[in-house]
Amino acid sequence: MYKLLVIFHLLGAAVWVGGHLVLAANVLPKALAARDPQVLLGFEGGFEKLGMPALAIQILTGFTLVHWWFPDLSAALAAHDPRLPWVGVKLALLLATAGLALNARLRLIPHLTAATLPVLAWHVRAVTVFAVLFLVAGAAIRTGGLP
Ligand code: HEM
Repeated sequence: MYKLLVIFHLLGAAVWVGGHLVLAANVLPKALAARDPQVLLGFEGGFEKLGMPALAIQILTGFTLVHWWFPDLSAALAAHDPRLPWVGVKLALLLATAGLALNARLRLIPHLTAATLPVLAWHVRAVTVFAVLFLVAGAAIRTGGLP
């Protein structure tokens, strides 16, 4: 069961992190150079179908893995387990990602123009950095902390 959870968590991470790196490093510069929101929206529309289920899998498997590592959360807190702050980092990243994604989806994307494209670009860059930090925090939990 644990191994299956890690496999699905890594699969979801591959989709989420990989998709955002392609978006930020390849699609976004093209959209900004052409000042054409459609370049971004075209990729976003396709990626969303894979990216959203991937994020849902991350949340589901992530919380189950937290329970696997820390079945007694208050005991882990009392023992100052060095991996626990990294779970906090993941929760903060989740809140920040959700806030940016909701703002992009509900406020920016419905009225996207060449003028507002740079604002969406910053959202994309931030969510991509957060995606990589999710991965770093995950590795820290597995290895007992960083460095
Ligand atoms: C897009 C979001 C996320 C990404 C990209 C991500 C990525 C990763 C990666 C790459 C690992 C290392 C796996 C390993 O080597 O075993 C990991 C581990 C872990 N993640 Fe996430 N994660 C995400 C969201 C979450 C969430 C929301 C939680 C729950 C708070 C969570 C909890 C954990 C735990 C507990 C581990 C340790 C699992 C283990 O190694 O046994 N993750 N994560």
